[in-house]
Amino acid sequence: MLIGSSPAATHPKNNGGGNASPNQTVITEFILLGFGNLHELRMPTFVIFLVVYIVTLMGNIMITAVVLTDHSLHTPMYFFLGNLSFLEIWYTTSVVPKMLKTLLTAHEAISFSACLLQFYIFGSLAVTECFLLAAMSYDRYVAICQPLHYGNLMNFRVCVQLAIGSWVGGFISLFVTMPMVSVLPFCASNKIDHFFCDLAPVVKLACGDTRLVRILSFFIASLVSFSPFLLTILSYCKIISTILKIPSAKSKQKAFSTCSSHLIVVTVFYGTLMVVYGVPTTTWYPNLSKVFSVLYIVGTPMVNPIIYSLRNKDVQNALRKLLTRNPALACE
Ligand SMILES: *[C@@H]1O[C@H](CO)[C@@H](O)[C@H](O)[C@H]1NC(C)=O
Repeated sequence: MLIGSSPAATHPKNNGGGNASPNQTVITEFILLGFGNLHELRMPTFVIFLVVYIVTLMGNIMITAVVLTDHSLHTPMYFFLGNLSFLEIWYTTSVVPKMLKTLLTAHEAISFSACLLQFYIFGSLAVTECFLLAAMSYDRYVAICQPLHYGNLMNFRVCVQLAIGSWVGGFISLFVTMPMVSVLPFCASNKIDHFFCDLAPVVKLACGDTRLVRILSFFIASLVSFSPFLLTILSYCKIISTILKIPSAKSKQKAFSTCSSHLIVVTVFYGTLMVVYGVPTTTWYPNLSKVFSVLYIVGTPMVNPIIYSLRNKDVQNALRKLLTRNPALACE
């Protein structure tokens, strides 16, 4: 049972064509079923997601812009925050526009290659986010636990290297999974019971032996998400134990305030990720896993800018400066 078996091995049991020629059994297009039969809830759901998407885009574009333009935010912590917001613009955009269209049609076609591309971009960005969150917690660890060496350890070169490493690492993390999925034989059904091309619902449709793909992709996904997760947890253990040892309550609070926003963001991101992939909801309520996917695809990217602009004084000041700057003055 090899994965790349000959076309003759893919049985012409497709429900669409009726023609038994092997060429026509090859599926070139998938159908996204979205959320299924929402009936009269379809329009309200569409409007909610549209509003959430617009808010997410605006929030993240604003954070990215403010980090790039405001000199008071040119520190490692905000550089990484800018990278994170920049990433989340593309993270939601890789899924939500097509999802909105699927909500309207409830039967949205997506070509095989577009489907793979969507999974590749979305998956790579998710891994990059894990790496960036780990880099950010390492930055907080150095700032709080090794304050005397901060300038030395987190210099500009190190920051750029960590940022580039996160992006490159994220985008090569699927180099083993992608070719394996792209040669899977699809023959029976092309209906994806999801609102985007995630790995599991796509592999579920393959008619060859998918054990190797599933095991390998699970192994790689665990490795690239668990190691940054562990690094993040370790950094925060050190940070919290250091903060607890600070005698004065005021300095304690000040130290904690520099990492609390990031800690919330990390908790939201990994919390939703764990609920989606850790809890076997699919066997109980198939639709529940879609609802949880919505949380981390649509929810997390919206939460980040909100938390930073509500809780962080530096970001607030920079945003105020950006927003009150009179655009008319620039034209004179
Ligand atoms: C991402 O991080 C790098 C290195 O810290 C920085 O040079 C770059 O400006 C950041 N990009 C954004 C969009 O914030």
